Amino acid sequence: MTKRLMMRVMDGETVFPPPLWMMRQAGRYLPEYRETRAKAGSFLDLCYSPEFATEVTLQPIRRFGFDAAILFSDILVIPDALNRDVRFVQGEGPRMRPITPDEIAGLDPTGVEAHLAPVFETVERLRGSLPDETTLIGFCGAPWTVATYMIAGHGTPDQAPARLFAYRHPEAMEKLLTLLADVSAAYLIRQLRAGADCVQIFDSWAGVLDEASFRAHVIAPTRMIVERVREAVPGARIIGFAKGAAGMLSSYRAETGVDAIGLDWSVSLAQAAELQRHGPVQGNLDPLRLIAGGKALDEGVHRILEALGSGPLIFNLGHGITPDAPIAHVEQLVRRVRKDSTSPS
Ligand code: CP3
Repeated sequence: MTKRLMMRVMDGETVFPPPLWMMRQAGRYLPEYRETRAKAGSFLDLCYSPEFATEVTLQPIRRFGFDAAILFSDILVIPDALNRDVRFVQGEGPRMRPITPDEIAGLDPTGVEAHLAPVFETVERLRGSLPDETTLIGFCGAPWTVATYMIAGHGTPDQAPARLFAYRHPEAMEKLLTLLADVSAAYLIRQLRAGADCVQIFDSWAGVLDEASFRAHVIAPTRMIVERVREAVPGARIIGFAKGAAGMLSSYRAETGVDAIGLDWSVSLAQAAELQRHGPVQGNLDPLRLIAGGKALDEGVHRILEALGSGPLIFNLGHGITPDAPIAHVEQLVRRVRKDSTSPS
């Protein structure tokens, strides 16, 4: 078998036109997703059904022929497996029992892998049903981002509850992040052994931290995961997505050891090109350009290809696609990246 396109880029090769996938590519903007979601029951039922989770993972591949599929699940299955009573409330997002400093020592990771067994079965099924050339990406939430939801019990605009918790209870925070790094590393190792080609660590809330906190809560636990995964699966390829952390990204890559870094749209293309001199980058189209379509979309794609197309690039959005994204605009994006791209200047 020849090496899958996205994996060539993960190994540092330049491929043009670049491989393409979209964060949250399986989701509510697709009618076929909404249909399967309605059959599955709750959102977590969908995540834990190998049959339905496989189906929704494949849907965007069938429709758009992306170069990579991302396992359908959620970063919050980890707190769910830790018995934090996770629920997804329609129109409100995730909810769970907020954790107190005293409860952290009592978190019990023993049942986590058994609880997540259906996810590993989904990965196995996916590797069996995806086209041979399609890369399969596994993932987890980074300890910091998962901890922000565990502490507040729900999403917040700036994760103030978790930031305050970290200042007031530094030892409890460190304990929580270490435990999450442990279970997340084991979770990724199992996904890689089940057939994932590479994995992405989502740190969607990395951008709310000051420098010292970023080093302690983002870099240190992420490095633990990377080391643990590489020890168990030599040569494992890992993407780190630290959203909103533009100023810290070169330290983030160098100090965590991730192979590729995901970029949100606030990262300038000049900085992106500089980061790309040290390894593959992924991103970074503003998801709102996908909503707008037309010239806004074409120009956004063009600028990224022009600035980053002559180095190792995985084309992606700067964050997840939203439910209101028109399918015709996704098609336009795929056409633009694949066919309309002339050679990079
Ligand atoms: O990318 C993919 O297609 C794979 C699936 C995936 C989902 N969530 C499915 C999902 C992935 C990789 C995630 C990651 C995730 N989940 C993150 C990190 C990336 C990011 O977007 O910042 C975070 C912070 C979460 C937590 C989460 N899950 C929130 C805050 C919400 C509610 C917001 C919303 O869009 O409704 C979810 C729910 C969720 N996760 C949905 C999907 C398709 C929508 C739920 C539904 O269908 O009802």
